[in-house]
Amino acid sequence: MGQVVFIPREIDANEGRVAASPDTVKRITGLGFDVVVEAGAGNASRIPDADFAKAGATIGKATDVAKADVVLKVRRPIEAELKAYKKGATVIAIMDPYGNDAGVAALAKAGVTSFAMEFMPRITRAQVMDVLSSQANLAGYQAVIDGAGEYDRALPMMMTAAGTVPAAKVFIMGVGVAGLQAIATARRLGAVVTATDVRPAVKEQVQSLGAKFIAVEDEEFKQAETAGGYAKEMSKEYQAKQAALTAEHIAKQDIVITTALIPGRPAPKLVSAEMVASMRPGSVLIDLAVERGGNVAGAEAGKIVTTGNGVKIVGHLNVAGRVAASASLLYAKNLFAFLETLVDKSSKQIAINREDELVKATLLTDDGKVVHPNFAKVDQKPQVEPAAIPASTMVADASPKPAAKKKSAAAKSKGTA
Ligand code: NAI
Repeated sequence: MGQVVFIPREIDANEGRVAASPDTVKRITGLGFDVVVEAGAGNASRIPDADFAKAGATIGKATDVAKADVVLKVRRPIEAELKAYKKGATVIAIMDPYGNDAGVAALAKAGVTSFAMEFMPRITRAQVMDVLSSQANLAGYQAVIDGAGEYDRALPMMMTAAGTVPAAKVFIMGVGVAGLQAIATARRLGAVVTATDVRPAVKEQVQSLGAKFIAVEDEEFKQAETAGGYAKEMSKEYQAKQAALTAEHIAKQDIVITTALIPGRPAPKLVSAEMVASMRPGSVLIDLAVERGGNVAGAEAGKIVTTGNGVKIVGHLNVAGRVAASASLLYAKNLFAFLETLVDKSSKQIAINREDELVKATLLTDDGKVVHPNFAKVDQKPQVEPAAIPASTMVADASPKPAAKKKSAAAKSKGTA
Protein backbone atom coordinates (compact mmCIF):
# COMPACT_ATOMS: atom_id res chain seq x y z
CA MET A 1 0.00 0.00 0.00
CA GLY A 2 1.25 3.45 -0.86
CA GLN A 3 1.30 6.55 1.30
CA VAL A 4 -2.10 8.20 1.65
CA VAL A 5 -3.02 11.62 0.25
CA PHE A 6 -6.26 12.94 1.75
CA ILE A 7 -8.45 15.69 0.36
CA PRO A 8 -10.98 16.90 2.93
CA ARG A 9 -14.17 18.80 2.40
CA GLU A 10 -13.44 22.41 3.42
CA ILE A 11 -15.22 23.24 6.67
CA ASP A 12 -15.41 27.02 6.15
CA ALA A 13 -19.00 27.78 5.14
CA ASN A 14 -17.72 30.38 2.70
CA GLU A 15 -15.36 28.03 0.88
CA GLY A 16 -16.60 26.29 -2.23
CA ARG A 17 -13.20 25.31 -3.56
CA VAL A 18 -11.57 21.90 -3.22
CA ALA A 19 -7.87 21.02 -3.30
CA ALA A 20 -8.05 18.32 -5.97
CA SER A 21 -9.67 17.69 -9.32
CA PRO A 22 -10.22 14.38 -11.12
CA ASP A 23 -7.19 15.27 -13.23
CA THR A 24 -4.90 15.77 -10.24
CA VAL A 25 -6.25 12.68 -8.47
CA LYS A 26 -5.18 10.66 -11.50
CA ARG A 27 -1.74 12.29 -11.44
CA ILE A 28 -1.27 11.81 -7.67
CA THR A 29 -2.24 8.16 -8.02
CA GLY A 30 0.29 7.98 -10.83
CA LEU A 31 3.01 9.04 -8.38
CA GLY A 32 2.22 5.93 -6.33
CA PHE A 33 -0.06 7.37 -3.64
CA ASP A 34 -3.44 6.14 -2.48
CA VAL A 35 -5.84 9.06 -2.74
CA VAL A 36 -8.80 9.42 -0.38
CA VAL A 37 -11.33 12.20 -1.04
CA GLU A 38 -13.85 13.06 1.65
CA ALA A 39 -17.41 12.52 0.46
CA GLY A 40 -18.90 15.72 -0.90
CA ALA A 41 -15.55 17.54 -1.00
CA GLY A 42 -16.10 18.59 -4.59
CA ASN A 43 -19.82 19.30 -4.49
CA ALA A 44 -19.59 23.09 -4.37
CA SER A 45 -17.05 22.97 -7.21
CA ARG A 46 -19.37 20.81 -9.32
CA ILE A 47 -17.16 17.74 -8.97
CA PRO A 48 -19.32 14.78 -7.89
CA ASP A 49 -17.75 12.02 -5.77
CA ALA A 50 -18.25 9.65 -8.70
CA ASP A 51 -15.85 11.70 -10.83
CA PHE A 52 -13.16 11.50 -8.14
CA ALA A 53 -13.77 7.77 -7.81
CA LYS A 54 -13.52 7.29 -11.57
CA ALA A 55 -10.17 9.07 -11.46
CA GLY A 56 -8.89 6.54 -8.94
CA ALA A 57 -9.75 7.99 -5.52
CA THR A 58 -11.42 6.20 -2.65
CA ILE A 59 -14.33 8.20 -1.25
CA GLY A 60 -13.94 8.44 2.51
CA LYS A 61 -15.05 10.35 5.55
CA ALA A 62 -13.54 13.24 7.54
CA THR A 63 -11.95 10.94 10.12
CA ASP A 64 -9.89 9.23 7.40
CA VAL A 65 -7.50 12.16 7.74
CA ALA A 66 -5.94 10.20 10.62
CA LYS A 67 -4.43 7.83 8.04
CA ALA A 68 -3.11 10.58 5.80
CA ASP A 69 0.59 11.16 5.13
CA VAL A 70 -0.33 14.19 3.03
CA VAL A 71 -3.33 16.49 3.38
CA LEU A 72 -4.16 18.81 0.51
CA LYS A 73 -6.41 21.70 1.51
CA VAL A 74 -7.64 25.06 0.35
CA ARG A 75 -7.58 26.76 3.78
CA ARG A 76 -5.36 26.34 6.81
CA PRO A 77 -6.80 23.58 9.02
CA ILE A 78 -8.08 24.93 12.31
CA GLU A 79 -7.25 23.46 15.69
CA ALA A 80 -10.37 21.28 15.79
CA GLU A 81 -9.43 19.71 12.44
CA LEU A 82 -5.77 19.30 13.39
CA LYS A 83 -6.68 17.10 16.35
CA ALA A 84 -7.34 14.24 13.94
CA TYR A 85 -4.18 14.74 11.85
CA LYS A 86 -1.27 12.33 12.07
CA LYS A 87 1.86 13.80 13.62
CA GLY A 88 4.44 14.38 10.89
CA ALA A 89 1.83 14.60 8.12
CA THR A 90 2.57 17.00 5.28
CA VAL A 91 -0.14 19.67 4.97
CA ILE A 92 -0.29 21.97 1.95
CA ALA A 93 -2.77 24.86 1.80
CA ILE A 94 -3.23 28.62 1.57
CA MET A 95 -2.23 29.28 5.18
CA ASP A 96 -3.14 32.97 5.49
CA PRO A 97 -0.64 33.32 8.35
CA TYR A 98 -0.41 37.12 8.74
CA GLY A 99 -2.28 38.18 11.85
CA ASN A 100 -3.10 34.54 12.60
CA ASP A 101 -0.31 33.65 15.02
CA ALA A 102 -2.53 31.30 17.03
CA GLY A 103 -3.52 29.38 13.91
CA VAL A 104 0.12 29.02 12.88
CA ALA A 105 1.10 27.92 16.40
CA ALA A 106 -1.65 25.28 16.27
CA LEU A 107 -0.05 23.77 13.14
CA ALA A 108 3.28 23.53 14.97
CA LYS A 109 1.62 22.05 18.02
CA ALA A 110 -0.07 19.39 15.91
CA GLY A 111 3.39 18.39 14.67
CA VAL A 112 2.51 18.71 11.00
CA THR A 113 4.95 19.76 8.30
CA SER A 114 2.98 22.57 6.76
CA PHE A 115 3.52 24.58 3.60
CA ALA A 116 2.01 27.99 2.80
CA MET A 117 1.34 28.03 -0.95
CA GLU A 118 1.06 31.82 -1.02
CA PHE A 119 4.80 32.09 -0.26
CA MET A 120 5.81 30.33 -3.44
CA PRO A 121 8.63 32.36 -4.97
CA ARG A 122 7.82 33.94 -8.31
CA ILE A 123 10.51 32.19 -10.29
CA THR A 124 10.18 30.29 -13.56
CA ARG A 125 10.19 26.85 -11.99
CA ALA A 126 7.37 27.73 -9.61
CA GLN A 127 5.03 29.58 -11.98
CA VAL A 128 2.80 26.52 -12.28
CA MET A 129 2.52 26.50 -8.46
CA ASP A 130 1.60 30.17 -8.09
CA VAL A 131 -1.76 30.11 -6.29
CA LEU A 132 -1.81 33.87 -5.84
CA SER A 133 -1.81 34.26 -9.62
CA SER A 134 -4.25 31.49 -10.46
CA GLN A 135 -6.77 32.66 -7.88
CA ALA A 136 -6.28 36.42 -8.33
CA ASN A 137 -6.82 36.02 -12.06
CA LEU A 138 -10.29 34.58 -11.45
CA ALA A 139 -11.02 37.09 -8.68
CA GLY A 140 -10.27 39.93 -11.11
CA TYR A 141 -12.65 38.46 -13.64
CA GLN A 142 -15.39 37.83 -11.07
CA ALA A 143 -15.04 41.36 -9.65
CA VAL A 144 -16.13 42.77 -13.00
CA ILE A 145 -18.99 40.29 -13.27
CA ASP A 146 -20.11 41.24 -9.75
CA GLY A 147 -19.74 44.92 -10.58
CA ALA A 148 -21.78 44.56 -13.76
CA GLY A 149 -24.42 42.63 -11.81
CA GLU A 150 -24.80 45.34 -9.18
CA TYR A 151 -24.70 48.20 -11.69
CA ASP A 152 -28.18 48.84 -12.92
CA ARG A 153 -27.25 50.18 -16.33
CA ALA A 154 -25.69 48.59 -19.41
CA LEU A 155 -21.91 48.50 -19.77
CA PRO A 156 -21.30 48.75 -23.52
CA MET A 157 -22.23 51.70 -25.64
CA MET A 158 -25.38 50.85 -27.61
CA MET A 159 -26.46 52.91 -30.54
CA THR A 160 -30.04 52.03 -31.30
CA ALA A 161 -32.94 53.57 -33.20
CA ALA A 162 -34.37 54.52 -29.82
CA GLY A 163 -31.25 56.36 -28.77
CA THR A 164 -27.72 55.83 -27.47
CA VAL A 165 -26.73 54.17 -24.23
CA PRO A 166 -23.33 55.53 -23.17
CA ALA A 167 -20.51 53.13 -22.28
CA ALA A 168 -19.92 52.68 -18.55
CA LYS A 169 -16.69 54.04 -17.09
CA VAL A 170 -14.72 51.45 -15.11
CA PHE A 171 -11.68 52.38 -13.00
CA ILE A 172 -9.30 49.67 -11.77
CA MET A 173 -7.08 50.57 -8.80
CA GLY A 174 -4.12 48.22 -8.36
CA VAL A 175 -3.02 46.40 -11.50
CA GLY A 176 -1.42 43.15 -10.41
CA VAL A 177 -2.77 39.84 -11.62
CA ALA A 178 -6.36 40.56 -10.52
CA GLY A 179 -6.33 44.11 -11.87
CA LEU A 180 -5.02 43.06 -15.28
CA GLN A 181 -7.76 40.46 -15.64
CA ALA A 182 -10.33 43.01 -14.46
CA ILE A 183 -9.19 45.43 -17.15
CA ALA A 184 -9.40 42.75 -19.84
CA THR A 185 -12.86 41.62 -18.68
CA ALA A 186 -14.27 45.14 -18.43
CA ARG A 187 -12.94 45.93 -21.90
CA ARG A 188 -14.62 42.81 -23.31
CA LEU A 189 -17.89 44.02 -21.83
CA GLY A 190 -17.45 47.29 -23.70
CA ALA A 191 -16.64 49.63 -20.81
CA VAL A 192 -14.29 52.60 -21.04
CA VAL A 193 -11.48 51.52 -18.72
CA THR A 194 -8.89 53.49 -16.78
CA ALA A 195 -6.43 52.03 -14.26
CA THR A 196 -3.87 53.09 -11.70
CA ASP A 197 -1.00 51.54 -9.76
CA VAL A 198 2.15 52.64 -7.96
CA ARG A 199 4.47 50.34 -9.92
CA PRO A 200 5.77 51.91 -13.14
CA ALA A 201 6.03 48.53 -14.94
CA VAL A 202 2.25 48.48 -15.00
CA LYS A 203 1.77 51.44 -17.33
CA GLU A 204 2.71 49.55 -20.49
CA GLN A 205 0.59 46.54 -19.47
CA VAL A 206 -2.45 48.75 -18.92
CA GLN A 207 -2.03 50.42 -22.27
CA SER A 208 -1.52 47.12 -24.07
CA LEU A 209 -4.94 46.03 -22.79
CA GLY A 210 -6.53 49.14 -24.30
CA ALA A 211 -7.05 51.02 -21.05
CA LYS A 212 -5.76 54.44 -20.00
CA PHE A 213 -3.14 54.64 -17.23
CA ILE A 214 -3.60 57.29 -14.57
CA ALA A 215 -1.02 57.79 -11.82
CA VAL A 216 1.19 60.26 -10.01
CA GLU A 217 4.41 59.53 -11.89
CA ASP A 218 7.02 61.20 -9.66
CA GLU A 219 10.47 60.04 -8.46
CA GLU A 220 8.98 57.83 -5.73
CA PHE A 221 6.75 56.11 -8.27
CA LYS A 222 9.84 55.19 -10.31
CA GLN A 223 11.22 53.28 -7.29
CA ALA A 224 8.00 51.72 -6.08
CA GLU A 225 8.59 48.12 -7.11
CA THR A 226 10.50 45.58 -5.00
CA ALA A 227 12.81 42.91 -6.39
CA GLY A 228 9.99 40.41 -5.98
CA GLY A 229 7.75 42.52 -8.23
CA TYR A 230 5.44 43.72 -5.46
CA ALA A 231 4.49 47.23 -4.40
CA LYS A 232 6.07 49.05 -1.46
CA GLU A 233 4.13 51.06 1.06
CA MET A 234 4.16 54.65 -0.26
CA SER A 235 5.09 57.78 1.69
CA LYS A 236 2.46 60.08 3.22
CA GLU A 237 3.35 62.72 0.61
CA TYR A 238 2.81 60.32 -2.26
CA GLN A 239 -0.45 59.13 -0.78
CA ALA A 240 -1.71 62.72 -0.59
CA LYS A 241 -0.86 63.39 -4.24
CA GLN A 242 -2.43 60.08 -5.25
CA ALA A 243 -5.58 60.91 -3.29
CA ALA A 244 -5.95 64.28 -5.02
CA LEU A 245 -5.68 62.67 -8.44
CA THR A 246 -8.07 59.87 -7.49
CA ALA A 247 -10.64 62.30 -6.05
CA GLU A 248 -10.96 64.16 -9.30
CA HIS A 249 -11.17 61.02 -11.44
CA ILE A 250 -13.41 58.85 -9.31
CA ALA A 251 -16.35 61.27 -9.25
CA LYS A 252 -16.86 60.52 -12.94
CA GLN A 253 -16.65 56.71 -12.68
CA ASP A 254 -19.51 54.20 -12.75
CA ILE A 255 -17.71 51.10 -11.46
CA VAL A 256 -14.51 51.14 -9.40
CA ILE A 257 -12.64 47.92 -8.69
CA THR A 258 -9.86 48.05 -6.11
CA THR A 259 -7.25 45.28 -5.80
CA ALA A 260 -4.30 47.05 -4.13
CA LEU A 261 -2.24 44.96 -1.73
CA ILE A 262 1.18 45.14 -0.12
CA PRO A 263 2.48 41.76 1.03
CA GLY A 264 2.39 41.40 4.82
CA ARG A 265 0.87 44.86 5.36
CA PRO A 266 -2.70 46.12 5.66
CA ALA A 267 -4.22 47.10 2.31
CA PRO A 268 -3.57 50.75 1.41
CA LYS A 269 -6.57 53.07 1.84
CA LEU A 270 -7.22 54.48 -1.60
CA VAL A 271 -10.86 55.59 -1.68
CA SER A 272 -12.07 57.91 1.11
CA ALA A 273 -15.64 58.41 2.30
CA GLU A 274 -15.63 61.82 0.55
CA MET A 275 -14.67 60.17 -2.74
CA VAL A 276 -17.48 57.65 -2.37
CA ALA A 277 -19.87 60.51 -1.62
CA SER A 278 -18.76 62.27 -4.81
CA MET A 279 -19.89 59.38 -7.01
CA ARG A 280 -23.25 59.30 -8.78
CA PRO A 281 -26.16 57.24 -7.41
CA GLY A 282 -26.07 53.72 -8.80
CA SER A 283 -22.26 53.65 -8.99
CA VAL A 284 -20.57 50.54 -7.67
CA LEU A 285 -17.28 49.95 -5.83
CA ILE A 286 -15.90 46.42 -5.61
CA ASP A 287 -13.21 46.09 -2.93
CA LEU A 288 -11.13 42.96 -3.56
CA ALA A 289 -8.80 43.92 -0.69
CA VAL A 290 -11.59 43.83 1.90
CA GLU A 291 -10.18 40.75 3.65
CA ARG A 292 -6.93 42.62 4.27
CA GLY A 293 -8.56 45.76 5.68
CA GLY A 294 -9.95 47.12 2.42
CA ASN A 295 -9.00 49.86 -0.05
CA VAL A 296 -12.38 51.60 0.21
CA ALA A 297 -13.67 53.51 3.24
CA GLY A 298 -16.94 51.97 4.40
CA ALA A 299 -16.36 48.57 2.79
CA GLU A 300 -17.48 45.72 5.02
CA ALA A 301 -16.19 42.19 4.67
CA GLY A 302 -18.90 39.88 3.39
CA LYS A 303 -21.43 42.67 2.79
CA ILE A 304 -22.85 44.98 0.16
CA VAL A 305 -23.21 48.42 1.75
CA THR A 306 -25.41 51.04 0.09
CA THR A 307 -24.41 54.57 1.06
CA GLY A 308 -26.73 57.53 1.63
CA ASN A 309 -26.09 58.79 -1.89
CA GLY A 310 -27.01 55.44 -3.46
CA VAL A 311 -23.51 54.11 -4.12
CA LYS A 312 -22.95 50.38 -3.53
CA ILE A 313 -19.75 49.19 -1.86
CA VAL A 314 -19.31 45.47 -2.45
CA GLY A 315 -17.09 43.56 -0.02
CA HIS A 316 -17.54 39.92 -1.02
CA LEU A 317 -15.25 37.48 0.75
CA ASN A 318 -13.28 34.89 -1.17
CA VAL A 319 -14.08 36.23 -4.62
CA ALA A 320 -12.15 33.46 -6.41
CA GLY A 321 -14.38 31.05 -4.47
CA ARG A 322 -17.39 32.65 -6.18
CA VAL A 323 -16.21 30.89 -9.33
CA ALA A 324 -15.25 27.80 -7.35
CA ALA A 325 -15.59 25.31 -10.17
CA SER A 326 -13.00 27.16 -12.24
CA ALA A 327 -10.84 28.18 -9.28
CA SER A 328 -10.57 24.62 -7.93
CA LEU A 329 -9.25 23.20 -11.19
CA LEU A 330 -6.40 25.73 -11.27
CA TYR A 331 -5.70 25.51 -7.54
CA ALA A 332 -5.60 21.71 -7.66
CA LYS A 333 -3.06 21.87 -10.47
CA ASN A 334 -0.92 24.37 -8.50
CA LEU A 335 -0.89 21.96 -5.54
CA PHE A 336 -0.10 18.92 -7.62
CA ALA A 337 2.86 20.64 -9.25
CA PHE A 338 4.31 21.44 -5.82
CA LEU A 339 3.52 18.02 -4.33
CA GLU A 340 5.36 16.37 -7.19
CA THR A 341 8.57 18.16 -6.12
CA LEU A 342 8.26 16.70 -2.60
CA VAL A 343 8.13 13.08 -3.79
CA ASP A 344 10.99 10.64 -4.18
CA LYS A 345 10.03 9.00 -7.47
CA SER A 346 11.84 5.71 -6.77
CA SER A 347 10.50 5.02 -3.28
CA LYS A 348 7.16 6.73 -4.13
CA GLN A 349 7.27 8.40 -0.72
CA ILE A 350 7.31 11.97 0.50
CA ALA A 351 10.96 13.01 0.84
CA ILE A 352 11.24 16.72 1.62
CA ASN A 353 14.49 18.39 0.64
CA ARG A 354 14.71 21.22 3.15
CA GLU A 355 17.46 22.86 1.12
CA ASP A 356 15.20 23.26 -1.92
CA GLU A 357 14.40 26.93 -2.53
CA LEU A 358 10.68 26.24 -2.91
CA VAL A 359 10.62 24.35 0.39
CA LYS A 360 12.63 27.05 2.16
CA ALA A 361 10.24 29.74 0.97
CA THR A 362 7.00 27.96 1.84
CA LEU A 363 7.74 25.72 4.84
CA LEU A 364 5.74 27.20 7.71
CA THR A 365 5.93 24.60 10.50
CA ASP A 366 8.13 21.54 10.86
CA ASP A 367 8.88 19.08 13.63
CA GLY A 368 6.72 20.88 16.20
CA LYS A 369 8.07 24.36 15.48
CA VAL A 370 7.13 27.43 13.46
CA VAL A 371 10.10 27.64 11.10
CA HIS A 372 9.21 30.31 8.53
CA PRO A 373 11.47 33.35 9.04
CA ASN A 374 8.48 35.73 9.08
CA PHE A 375 6.74 33.87 11.87
CA ALA A 376 9.39 32.02 13.82
CA LYS A 377 9.30 34.74 16.47
CA VAL A 378 5.82 35.86 17.34
CA ASP A 379 7.10 39.19 18.70
CA GLN A 380 8.84 40.00 15.41
CA LYS A 381 6.87 41.87 12.80
CA PRO A 382 7.05 40.45 9.26
CA GLN A 383 10.23 41.82 7.73
CA VAL A 384 10.71 39.84 4.58
CA GLU A 385 8.60 40.14 1.49
CA PRO A 386 6.95 36.72 1.39
CA ALA A 387 7.38 35.72 -2.21
CA ALA A 388 10.92 37.10 -2.28
CA ILE A 389 12.29 34.46 0.08
CA PRO A 390 15.03 33.56 -0.38
CA ALA A 391 15.95 36.97 -1.81
CA SER A 392 19.12 35.65 -3.43
CA THR A 393 17.03 33.31 -5.55
CA MET A 394 14.90 36.13 -6.87
CA VAL A 395 17.94 38.05 -8.01
CA ALA A 396 19.56 35.02 -9.60
CA ASP A 397 16.49 34.14 -11.61
CA ALA A 398 15.66 37.04 -13.85
CA SER A 399 13.70 35.27 -16.57
CA PRO A 400 10.29 34.54 -15.15
CA LYS A 401 7.79 37.32 -15.39
CA PRO A 402 4.85 37.25 -17.74
CA ALA A 403 4.74 39.60 -20.71
CA ALA A 404 5.76 43.12 -19.86
CA LYS A 405 7.69 42.21 -16.75
CA LYS A 406 11.05 41.89 -18.35
CA LYS A 407 13.28 44.13 -16.24
CA SER A 408 15.88 42.05 -14.42
CA ALA A 409 15.26 41.47 -10.76
CA ALA A 410 18.77 42.73 -10.02
CA ALA A 411 17.98 46.07 -11.58
CA LYS A 412 15.08 46.47 -9.20
CA SER A 413 16.72 45.09 -6.08
CA LYS A 414 17.09 48.62 -4.78
CA GLY A 415 13.44 48.42 -3.86
CA THR A 416 13.61 45.19 -1.86
CA ALA A 417 11.38 45.33 1.19
P1 NAI B 1 -0.67 42.19 -5.25
O1 NAI B 1 -1.86 41.32 -5.15
O2 NAI B 1 0.36 42.13 -4.18
O3 NAI B 1 -1.15 43.72 -5.36
C1 NAI B 1 -2.09 44.13 -6.34
C2 NAI B 1 -1.65 45.41 -6.97
O4 NAI B 1 -1.83 46.50 -6.07
C3 NAI B 1 -0.17 45.47 -7.36
O5 NAI B 1 -0.06 45.72 -8.74
C4 NAI B 1 0.39 46.61 -6.53
O6 NAI B 1 1.42 47.31 -7.19
C5 NAI B 1 -0.84 47.46 -6.35
N1 NAI B 1 -0.73 48.47 -5.27
C6 NAI B 1 -0.17 48.34 -4.05
N2 NAI B 1 -0.25 49.48 -3.36
C7 NAI B 1 -0.90 50.38 -4.16
C8 NAI B 1 -1.30 51.74 -4.01
N3 NAI B 1 -1.03 52.42 -2.91
N4 NAI B 1 -1.95 52.33 -5.05
C9 NAI B 1 -2.21 51.65 -6.18
N5 NAI B 1 -1.86 50.36 -6.38
C10 NAI B 1 -1.21 49.73 -5.39
O7 NAI B 1 0.05 41.99 -6.66
P2 NAI B 1 0.11 40.71 -7.58
O8 NAI B 1 -1.13 40.55 -8.32
O9 NAI B 1 0.58 39.58 -6.78
O10 NAI B 1 1.24 41.12 -8.63
C11 NAI B 1 2.50 41.62 -8.20
C12 NAI B 1 3.51 41.50 -9.33
O11 NAI B 1 3.98 40.16 -9.48
C13 NAI B 1 3.01 41.90 -10.71
O12 NAI B 1 4.01 42.64 -11.31
C14 NAI B 1 2.84 40.62 -11.43
O13 NAI B 1 2.97 40.77 -12.83
C15 NAI B 1 3.99 39.83 -10.86
N6 NAI B 1 3.82 38.41 -11.04
C16 NAI B 1 4.89 37.62 -11.35
C17 NAI B 1 4.75 36.27 -11.50
C18 NAI B 1 5.91 35.41 -11.83
O14 NAI B 1 6.92 35.88 -12.16
N7 NAI B 1 5.78 34.13 -11.70
C19 NAI B 1 3.45 35.63 -11.34
C20 NAI B 1 2.41 36.54 -10.98
C21 NAI B 1 2.61 37.87 -10.83
